[in-house]
Amino acid sequence: MAGKHTLGIDIGGSGIKGAPVDLKKGEFATERQRIPTPEESTPHAVAEVVAEIVDHFTDEIGSSSPVGITVPAVVHHGVVRTAANIDPSWIGADADAMFTERIGRQVHVVNDADAAGVAEVHYGAGRGNDGVVLLTTLGTGIGTALFMNGELLPNTELGHLEIDGHDAETQAASSAREREDLSWEDWADRLQRYYSHVEDLFWPDLIIVGGGISKKADKYLPLLHTRAPIVPAQLRNDAGIIGAAWQAKHLG
Ligand code: BGC
Repeated sequence: MAGKHTLGIDIGGSGIKGAPVDLKKGEFATERQRIPTPEESTPHAVAEVVAEIVDHFTDEIGSSSPVGITVPAVVHHGVVRTAANIDPSWIGADADAMFTERIGRQVHVVNDADAAGVAEVHYGAGRGNDGVVLLTTLGTGIGTALFMNGELLPNTELGHLEIDGHDAETQAASSAREREDLSWEDWADRLQRYYSHVEDLFWPDLIIVGGGISKKADKYLPLLHTRAPIVPAQLRNDAGIIGAAWQAKHLG
């Protein structure tokens, strides 16, 4: 049976979330399902949760449509290559092949920030913007997605730029603000250092700020001075799922 929608699944540190996506509208077709990430979040343990989510939505997605999945890591042609904030056993895993075998459908695994960026560029804050668009997600780490005229350059990993002798995400991610109990002003100073450096290297025309903390963008974005306009993401936590579904449908 051919269902109407494409399933996107977002694998995060605490939850694995999936929803059928209406790609005409760029929104969830039904309410999402969330299952806690297994304590030992190895590829095989996660694949069991993914299979459960796929089964749950069979009516909406049909029996043969492709599935898009995000992971917080470099994904090079379906193979996971890094594990900054996930179980190290992911490194070297052929995630496309493994998930495809487990669920019996074509699966397209992509970096989480790339997926969020794709969603924002097609349906959200980046819509209609040509030129260089940079999405950054501020969460446990810093994820980045870089676009030129709407085309993604995958796996940019600009959260790991070395700035002042540090891996940038350890200083400026949202987790650093929480860990060090920084005021919004102090955190904005860190973000300023980060975005100034990124702007000097890439000269984006638009910067989009995503991640859960984009809900509170009014607390820190007005404190930043960037050459390019810097705006909050519009699809918030739904962006990863929507972008994963978009990529599964369009990239196969
Ligand atoms: C990872 C990226 C990921 C980002 C956000 C970074 O630590 O290296 O691949 O996109 O965190 O989850």
